[in-house]
Amino acid sequence: MSAPLLSIDDLTVEYRTARPVRAVDHVSIEIAPGEIFGLAGESGCGKSTLAYAVTRLLQPPAEIVGGAIRWTPDGADPLDVLGLDGRELRAFRWSEISMVFQGAMNALNPVHTVRSQIEDVFVDHRSGLSRTERRARAEELLATVGIDPRHLTSYPHELSGGMRQRVMIAIALALRPRLIVMDEPTTALDVVVQRTILDEIDRLRSELGFAVLFITHDLGLLLEISDRVGIMLSGRLVEQGSSRQIQDAPRHDYTQHLLRSFPSLRGDMPATGTRYVDREPERRPS
Ligand SMILES: Nc1ncnc2c1ncn2[C@@H]1O[C@H](COP(=O)(O)OP(=O)(O)OP(=O)(O)O)[C@@H](O)[C@H]1O
Ligand SMILES: [Mg+2]
Repeated sequence: MSAPLLSIDDLTVEYRTARPVRAVDHVSIEIAPGEIFGLAGESGCGKSTLAYAVTRLLQPPAEIVGGAIRWTPDGADPLDVLGLDGRELRAFRWSEISMVFQGAMNALNPVHTVRSQIEDVFVDHRSGLSRTERRARAEELLATVGIDPRHLTSYPHELSGGMRQRVMIAIALALRPRLIVMDEPTTALDVVVQRTILDEIDRLRSELGFAVLFITHDLGLLLEISDRVGIMLSGRLVEQGSSRQIQDAPRHDYTQHLLRSFPSLRGDMPATGTRYVDREPERRPS
């Protein structure tokens, strides 16, 4: 792997509630420039908490209780992400790392047009773009994610779920970040739309060169699109490796269990699980 862009080192996050929950437990991950790192694991294992920690969006009662996150673009001196504050954090978030939130397609503001929601990113992050430049960039971004720019004047309810999710991806791409955290970006979509969006993410990644931290509980899908994969279980990263390695030689019991839980497109049906019968069962003479 080339020198990492993002290094998460021994990160531990707790929710300080009446009964504290350790949601991320000594997790270490490195992501190289332009790489897709996939994170899988069951519901509640801490995937979103990790994503929020990396983008510095965690709110109380969540607290980072240990570890470090370093950001090293183009071999520059590493930036201590957990130490950023105020202005530094504003400059880092969205221009360096952006995020497509879990359930994002329902997070667009219903009373604002697509155009104003895309342009808001340039205003909020003081991009210095003029009004005309902002309009041109919004148009270009929509085209980049495969939506006709005439939809700039549409309201979210006038778009399909797939289109709304593309708008969220356009917003995440707006400031040309080096890394995009995508938290279950396609889970709510039907399989055909999901497939087109995944292909598009891959195409955009090749064209624009950003890295992706891709989060889903769907390991089958993750293995297909990721360069490397990490498996989380109850806050811990129990295994990580190349997609090929995880698929062909998973080491941890839990990874093996996850792999057995979806049918292979090739090879035999697993010994356990549903058997599909395509003919009438034989009748025994009574
Ligand atoms: N605001 C909160 N207060 C207390 N506990 C929380 C809070 N948010 C999350 N948790 C707990 O932290 C753990 C990890 O939650 P998280 O949302 O990170 O999981 P996840 O892997 O993203 O799950 P899913 O696949 O369902 O999205 C869970 O046990 C959850 O109950
Ligand atoms: Mg989540």
